Amino acid sequence: MGYQFFLETAAWTFFLFLLQTFSLGAGNFFQDLGLGALPDIAKINVSQDEYSQMMEVYLSARRSSPTNHVPHLVTFDVGHHFLDNSRRNMIDLESNNLSGELEVESGELKLLIDPVQVTDPEVVQVRIYEKFGPKQRQFVDEKTLYLSHNQTKWCEFDLTNSIQWWLNDKINFRLELICLNCKGSLRVREAFVNALVFRDGMRKKRSVSPFDQTRRTDCRYSSGNNNRMKCCRHNMTVTFKDLRFPEMASIVQPKSYEAGYCQGRCPPNYNYATNHSRIQTLVHQMDKKIAKQLSRRAIPKACCSPSKLAPLEIIRVDPYNNSKLIVEKWENMQVTECACS
Ligand SMILES: *[C@@H]1O[C@H](CO)[C@@H](O)[C@H](O)[C@H]1NC(C)=O
Ligand SMILES: *[C@@H]1O[C@H](CO)[C@@H](O)[C@H](O)[C@H]1NC(C)=O
Ligand SMILES: *[C@@H]1O[C@H](CO)[C@@H](O)[C@H](O)[C@H]1NC(C)=O
Ligand SMILES: *[C@@H]1O[C@H](CO)[C@@H](O)[C@H](O)[C@H]1NC(C)=O
Ligand SMILES: *[C@@H]1O[C@H](CO)[C@@H](O)[C@H](O)[C@H]1NC(C)=O
Ligand SMILES: *[C@@H]1O[C@H](CO)[C@@H](O)[C@H](O)[C@H]1NC(C)=O
Repeated sequence: MGYQFFLETAAWTFFLFLLQTFSLGAGNFFQDLGLGALPDIAKINVSQDEYSQMMEVYLSARRSSPTNHVPHLVTFDVGHHFLDNSRRNMIDLESNNLSGELEVESGELKLLIDPVQVTDPEVVQVRIYEKFGPKQRQFVDEKTLYLSHNQTKWCEFDLTNSIQWWLNDKINFRLELICLNCKGSLRVREAFVNALVFRDGMRKKRSVSPFDQTRRTDCRYSSGNNNRMKCCRHNMTVTFKDLRFPEMASIVQPKSYEAGYCQGRCPPNYNYATNHSRIQTLVHQMDKKIAKQLSRRAIPKACCSPSKLAPLEIIRVDPYNNSKLIVEKWENMQVTECACS
């Protein structure tokens, strides 16, 4: 299993490498998906009100499709203070009173930041640390922020990995925000933490998963012959941020999703998608011998490929209005079943 996984990871990494090297073009990604206009990420300015309102729309869209259990949005209006003439801001997350065991699907810090001083650039590099004591801190995230000289601006940081224990350990938690290239101070006006959480292990109760009903083509790995596995559905998690197009920042949720892929052998009589693929495999069997005599390529066998796909609910910044969010259903984003076709 380890080796198989390594091969898959390697293949996927190589694909990403190709994507970057030959630059299939950031400009093409959204257009290839038929999504039209590209968002201008430097102008994104989505308020907390817009976020909470549209996130409810997104979660209810997820609830209405046959998918896994859907999390709840919880929002904390958190304390913050800045030290005058300092590039540092402190964000204080007080211990919270949410009861029960919580599992975080994703977490985000949303800040309204004051206009930057005219002597400072509008494009700033900001780093966030978790702070444990006067000296101890741990790096969380670094981001380029596009601020303004004359208007306040909303910005976000990913906190998914940090807030799991803040929520469950019920402790006070402090974040330190540092502007790397500001001369003056960076002033936070408002701060919110938004988290999508499951209560009391609800995430594991995946009774209505689209993958449960179609388990029959999911791969079952065993210790031995995994490299010669017959056509089946493999797991593949796609994280939008890792695709490295700056425009991915305009996708608010999901941050990553289970896309799956199809791979494996298609021996005679195995998992046909259509009557056509059954015939093609028979033709291949006979043509193989003739082709060999004539030194030409034989008619190919059927290939392992997706036979059922599922859509994905997406919430992203409206490319026509940078202060609004839209909820969309992107078709054919996840493989649920594979067959030889
Ligand atoms: C961002 O939105 C806020 C309101 O939510 C507004 O006050 C501010 O002027 C906007 N900033 C920019 C740069 O558009
Ligand atoms: C948690 O605290 C908030 C405000 O501090 C309060 O409105 C809410 O009722 C509290 N919830 C519980 C379950 O105690
Ligand atoms: C802010 O400054 C930009 C140019 O730097 C200008 O286009 C815009 O109108 C100004 N906005 C306000 C609200 O003053
Ligand atoms: C694929 O992922 C699902 C859930 O996302 C999990 O239940 C399953 O065990 C995984 N399959 C393999 C072969 O790793
Ligand atoms: C093959 O064709 C027959 C006759 O039309 C049909 O009953 C059967 O469902 C088809 N099989 C597949 C896999 O499409
Ligand atoms: C964007 O949406 C906001 C809120 O609905 C609206 O006030 C604003 O005029 C819109 N801007 C553009 C450029 O359409």
